[in-house]
Amino acid sequence: MSVNKNRITLDIEDVPKNYVNIVPYLSEPLAPPIDPGTGEPASPDVLTAIFAQECVRQEATQDKLVKIPTEIREALMRFGRPSPLQRAVRLEEQLRTPARIYFKREDVSPTGSHKLNTALAQAYYAAKEGTERLATETGAGQWGSAVALACSVFDIEAMVYMVKISYEQKRYRGTLMRSFGATIVPSPSDITEFGRKILKANPDHPGTLGIAISEALEDTLSREDTKYTLGSVLNHVLLHQTVIGQEVIAQLESVDEKVDTLIGCVGGGSNFGGMVFPFLADSRFDDVDYIAVEPTACPTLTKGEYKYDFGDTAGLTPKLKMYSLGQNFTPPKIHAGGLRYHGMAPTISALVHEGRIKPIAYDQVEVLHAGVLFAKCEGIIPAPESAHAIKAAIDRALYAKRNNREETIVLNLSGHGYFDMGAYDSLLSGSLSSEEGSLPKGEISIAREQTA
Ligand SMILES: Cc1ncc(COP(=O)(O)O)c(C=O)c1O
Repeated sequence: MSVNKNRITLDIEDVPKNYVNIVPYLSEPLAPPIDPGTGEPASPDVLTAIFAQECVRQEATQDKLVKIPTEIREALMRFGRPSPLQRAVRLEEQLRTPARIYFKREDVSPTGSHKLNTALAQAYYAAKEGTERLATETGAGQWGSAVALACSVFDIEAMVYMVKISYEQKRYRGTLMRSFGATIVPSPSDITEFGRKILKANPDHPGTLGIAISEALEDTLSREDTKYTLGSVLNHVLLHQTVIGQEVIAQLESVDEKVDTLIGCVGGGSNFGGMVFPFLADSRFDDVDYIAVEPTACPTLTKGEYKYDFGDTAGLTPKLKMYSLGQNFTPPKIHAGGLRYHGMAPTISALVHEGRIKPIAYDQVEVLHAGVLFAKCEGIIPAPESAHAIKAAIDRALYAKRNNREETIVLNLSGHGYFDMGAYDSLLSGSLSSEEGSLPKGEISIAREQTA
């Protein structure tokens, strides 16, 4: 183990051996997915038509720990785990805060974000069960890139439906995915019935994650050789991400640091859940504040309703009990494409509902300014999604300064932004305005009425 207190690394064999399951730690049993046809809890058969069997098993497990197969651990090690925990020393100096700010470096993954943690697991399970092809959607392209690489590692095909606005804003993401051997189409596309229906109504539709999920599901259900893979929201996905939080616990312990506040951005909840669940499952951390950061353009936790809703726009998924803005909600075209999702992980939703996790929302202009300050101080361009966590950490550190309070803050740097230069370019050239990322009046209530 390294003794550098500002860049804490672990040995390779410290990659966690188990995933930590938050479900048995919730104060009430987690509401099950509901089959919209019967109104009853969805049967595992419905789910195994879509997902790898092992993922379906993990989705419902009450086991506190789930063993990580050797093949997955080795793949995690090969692609850079354990990831460093770094102290933002220059950012602290710039803010003149007594707070200590650490960031977990999920940006060092070869595909640029935390998403590879679950992509490797899901591709492994699918390949082991004889699946030849995985279909999925991607927002900003981070998830699609992770699936593309993971499928190449375990020798299966990858089919990615990429939200059209991101496909256009982040062209080279597509190139990266194709380099790993995946097939990419902009969504809504003309190769699925649902995509054609959306395009007929609006040929210029920018796409949403909900629509792209519907297309990937339609693709999956129409082929024998294909399973679907999801990069967020579901229990098994957040479970795979808990390697993050377990590493952070070991890293803080190694320098005798006691954490006060954990911060992460939330799209569907996977990087945040992955970091905070191991803490929430451990009573030593009962006093920690957990802050989930979302965009004001897609304010699922701060303005959504806690109810059963579909995970996609077409209504192909079982209904999940979660905070939602409605399956038809179309967020403005903000640069943090990975945070443009109408719903939220049922586990995160339950913890917000219990008051254990506090949600907060920021506008994209203030978020990207925080990203630029972080880049100047720490030399890393954060993904626009991760910049939400940075903005919240900065505000928290300034609050500590006003109150002359020492505090240890850990944020999850869920990814880098080197494919997101368009976002920073529009900020720095002065062409990005708050209105661009703000919700048209009445947008949430309209989406709610449509889904009521
Ligand atoms: C870098 C990055 N961070 C965060 C997210 C949001 O997803 P989640 O809430 O599942 O972590 C995404 C999604 O694409 C992402 O690419």
